[in-house]
Amino acid sequence: IRQDADTVADYIAEYIKERINQFKPTSERPFVIGLPTGSSPIGVYKRLVQLYNNGHVSFKNVVSFNMDEYVGLPRDHPESYHSFMWNHLFKHIDIPPENVNILNGNADDLQAECERYEAKIQSYGGIELFMGGIGPDGHIAFNEPGSSLQSRTRVKTLAYETIIANARFFGGDVSKVPKLALTVGVGTVMDAREVVVIITGANKAIALAKCIEEGVNHMWTVSAIQTHPRSLVVCDDDATLEL
Ligand code: GLP
Repeated sequence: IRQDADTVADYIAEYIKERINQFKPTSERPFVIGLPTGSSPIGVYKRLVQLYNNGHVSFKNVVSFNMDEYVGLPRDHPESYHSFMWNHLFKHIDIPPENVNILNGNADDLQAECERYEAKIQSYGGIELFMGGIGPDGHIAFNEPGSSLQSRTRVKTLAYETIIANARFFGGDVSKVPKLALTVGVGTVMDAREVVVIITGANKAIALAKCIEEGVNHMWTVSAIQTHPRSLVVCDDDATLEL
């Protein structure tokens, strides 16, 4: 538990830097990281860019897999997760563009795209560290309430609550928010050797309590981290209101 969102971001960025540096990645054995979008990780990305600019970390031998992407939003749309990742992180660091993996929400065959993504993760021997945020309904990536805790990468219909929560990025217009997304599954996230979850703000307080103080439950999908041998929740004071 840290005081506020800024100190949470400092802690996680520092943590990720340490993990990459301890791992000593090479081009033969890159550090494979899973990354989220949303407002929660923005501070982490800002600090990782600073750490990179100050010479404390390099992403030359890092391979990234993003959690999710909207279906049908053009890749260069300002709210696509593709644009988000390049604007907030990738264009500011030395990660080779070919090491960046983001689901293609405009693929002709969405099912095949999801299978390709899972296979590509496997081809690297899995993900070393998956960082995630959560929705107020306890979803991780776009694994909405009711998702199987064994789920893999797939097409998902967004919950109405998520559409409302994300309308703020589309000028407050619910009708502009895509209704479908491609998302890694809960099982895909749990397969990572380590999972780090950012939970900040009072609007996540109920979800944090449900996910760590109640049982493992497919209605609060991030509760699956309770069964993970190496998981870390980094939250701020506001998020602990219901604990
Ligand atoms: C979206 C993303 C999630 C993210 C969530 C919370 O639903 N698919 O990965 O965790 O938003 O976003 P925020 O951090 O803005 O609250």
